[in-house]
Amino acid sequence: MKKKVLFVCLGNICRSPSAEAVFKALVEKNGDSNNFEIDSAGTSAWHEGEKADARMRRHAKNRGINITSISRKFEVEDFDHFNYIIAMDQENLDNLKQLIRNKSDLDKIHMMTNFSKKFNYGYVPDPYYGGDDGFDLVLDILEDAGEGFYHFLKKQD
Ligand code: 4NP
Repeated sequence: MKKKVLFVCLGNICRSPSAEAVFKALVEKNGDSNNFEIDSAGTSAWHEGEKADARMRRHAKNRGINITSISRKFEVEDFDHFNYIIAMDQENLDNLKQLIRNKSDLDKIHMMTNFSKKFNYGYVPDPYYGGDDGFDLVLDILEDAGEGFYHFLKKQD
């Protein structure tokens, strides 16, 4: 059975599309793509239908990561489809918790930074209103936590 993973942030144009692309690249590197379905969504529909933020795409591309996803809003049905729903910050987590219908939905929600290995951030900081450093920090945190998450999943097998 495929593991179905959904990364969630506010706008689905900076952090969660990056998490999706970083994690896809990691899974691919491990020859494990056939065992995964990986997607991302936003708790808001503010940027629905848009490509990821050009600054985010540029910073990712500098690391060889291609962000291709188109923004969409998280839907309650995503709880039915996905096994793991990964929030970027506390606000995302709180918004997701407001939509849960049962314990099974709740158990699917995790905080991305709980899987961090090297980094001590409690959340993935929103880079939208900041400078270049913020986009690089997002990618640093996501690469680290993505590895932690992958190892966590492998241990469940
Ligand atoms: P994201 O970043 O949640 O990482 O996609 C943001 C994108 C857009 C806005 C805020 C955060 N915004 O206010 O439009």
